[in-house]
Amino acid sequence: MSKNFTVTSFLNAKGKKEKITMLTAYDYSMAKILDESGIESILVGDSLGMVVQGYNSTLEVTVDDMIYHCRAVARGVKNAMIIGDMPFLSYHISVEESIRNAGRIIQEGKAQAVKLEGGIEVVDKVKAIRAAQIPVMGHIGLTPQSVNVFGGFKVQGRHVEQAQKLIEDAKALETAGVFAIVLEAIPENLAKIITESVNVPTIGIGAGKYCDGQVLVTNDLLGMYSDLSPKFVKQYANLSEVIKEAVKQYANEVKSVEFPEAKHAFSIEDSVLSKLY
Ligand code: KIV
Repeated sequence: MSKNFTVTSFLNAKGKKEKITMLTAYDYSMAKILDESGIESILVGDSLGMVVQGYNSTLEVTVDDMIYHCRAVARGVKNAMIIGDMPFLSYHISVEESIRNAGRIIQEGKAQAVKLEGGIEVVDKVKAIRAAQIPVMGHIGLTPQSVNVFGGFKVQGRHVEQAQKLIEDAKALETAGVFAIVLEAIPENLAKIITESVNVPTIGIGAGKYCDGQVLVTNDLLGMYSDLSPKFVKQYANLSEVIKEAVKQYANEVKSVEFPEAKHAFSIEDSVLSKLY
């Protein structure tokens, strides 16, 4: 398997000041479309708990769910690098479990890297997974698996102590061996300081323009998920409306017997047909 975009490409892009593109995907068809559109990296995010499974947080997602969706995405992707999220509790219990779960996402899920949430407190897990030859992406700021600790999906890093902690987290993750760090929902100028403080690229979502790359949840970008609408989302299409119009037209045509037409049906020889009556 040789991919156009790899962990090396992440580091090279930062060196060349070229912005990195990343979007989420959870299934074969969407992954294929994103890959054919030239997206460099695809995150099989545990956001699937919300936008695919319909939960109100990411906390219910399991390692088996991640593997199922990573495998589907991998079948559709030729060039983009695939990063599989480590779900809640898959890297919190012990170093051994963290390595095993990360390994399953790579071996069974066919991802090329894993992502996990947290800073200094997960450094031991990052080091151990890296030592097992698995590339790791960090994720700090509004880490959705901590929603109950944060008391909701709230912007992080607005106060001095919180902001300083995030800078220290980023440096600790870099030292532990991550190849990139997602910065979610933090002030733009804090993201700038973090981006300038580490040699690995930062990938922003709600973290402003100074990050080395950007990621969005594809369902948000395409207007296919309306339960939450964070300020940082730019909706590039309204596929919900397009889909609803198409479905209404289909239902009307079924009722009025305009669909299916002759070109959608299969024929049978008259000689065979006559024997059936
Ligand atoms: O799960 C996810 O999709 C993510 C992105 C929002 C970064 O972690």
